[in-house]
Amino acid sequence: MKQIDINVPVQVYDLDELPSQDRQLLEQARQATYTSYSPYSKFKVGAAILLDNGETLSGSNQENAAYSAGTCAERATCFYAHARYPEAKFDKIAITARNEDGDFVTEPVSPCGVCRQALLEFETLAGHDVPVILGGRDKAYIVPSVRSLLPLAFITYVGE
Ligand code: THU
Repeated sequence: MKQIDINVPVQVYDLDELPSQDRQLLEQARQATYTSYSPYSKFKVGAAILLDNGETLSGSNQENAAYSAGTCAERATCFYAHARYPEAKFDKIAITARNEDGDFVTEPVSPCGVCRQALLEFETLAGHDVPVILGGRDKAYIVPSVRSLLPLAFITYVGE
């Protein structure tokens, strides 16, 4: 028997020390929280994805009276981005959320398991690590890749 230890390096930044490109992407995710349709949970999640063609696309969680029909911000955004620019590769992702009081969460939120799986597909298509910025009110976490958030992931064929 041998053991494999899987570690996730997480960089912790104060918002004012974030590199400017990351700060801008996080700002777009923040703006996207205002487009959230979340009358049921009242939890407003925003995501922004920087593509290698220079475009940034953002989106938010969209809920539904039939709860399971609703979609998280990350999936709404990654599917939108890939539908809009199917040839472009993902370069970076930012995610943040506001609570019921309308305040940005103090502790950064991390994508749910299903969204990790969905995002991983696009990281695999990109062929390189896609850093993920998780934004809170005063701080941000940066993880180096989607796969670092989903160790031992399920991946089959991706490509041509
Ligand atoms: N939500 C997201 O948008 N992203 C996640 O990664 C987890 C949860 C949304 C779904 C639902 O609209 C609300 O947050 C409360 O769960």
